[in-house]
Amino acid sequence: MPKAKVAIFISGSGTNMAALLYASRLPDCPYEVVLVASNRPGADGLSLARAEGIATFAHSHKGLERADHDAVMERAAQDADADYIVLAGYMRILSEEFVSRWTGKIINIHPSLLPKYKGLNTHARAIEAGDRHGGATVHLVTPELDSGAILEQVKVTILPEDTPDTLAERVKLAEYQLYPRALASYVARAAQVTA
Ligand code: GRF
Repeated sequence: MPKAKVAIFISGSGTNMAALLYASRLPDCPYEVVLVASNRPGADGLSLARAEGIATFAHSHKGLERADHDAVMERAAQDADADYIVLAGYMRILSEEFVSRWTGKIINIHPSLLPKYKGLNTHARAIEAGDRHGGATVHLVTPELDSGAILEQVKVTILPEDTPDTLAERVKLAEYQLYPRALASYVARAAQVTA
């Protein structure tokens, strides 16, 4: 079965992108990374992707309307022949038009156990609420922020001494396990449906 082609969008360090990329190189992974694209030309993850021989693209959002910047990023994904757009720390809210053109084809990872704590500062909010667990969720992207169908989640225990930063560190370790697995299962299921 041909591998699903994935474009990964990042804004920062790109450590989830790296987890997705190295997982794609293990035997039997049903997806391959065809592009890493960013709205921040200086994003660290871009140099890592380049070093691994992956095509990269960057275009700053500054001075552009949201829909116009989305169109630039979308074009890069289309030029790379991507079947899926995978958001990995991409700190932009996508326009409704863009999301609607890729229904079921944009995937995100969010650092909370959705539907709890949509948006920012998830770890601080979980600690503040006295929750016993934080975690991460892989979900489909819909026009409403962090509200699309949940694909998979992983729980991370909150320790009494945790700060938002220490919890974030452990949630990331969990994310590196969760994201490649959830993406692989999703694209493999989709391939079976269309086969
Ligand atoms: C992750 O915690 C992810 O859940 C959130 O942004 C962070 C990205 O980190 N959406 P990195 O750039 O992958 O290191």
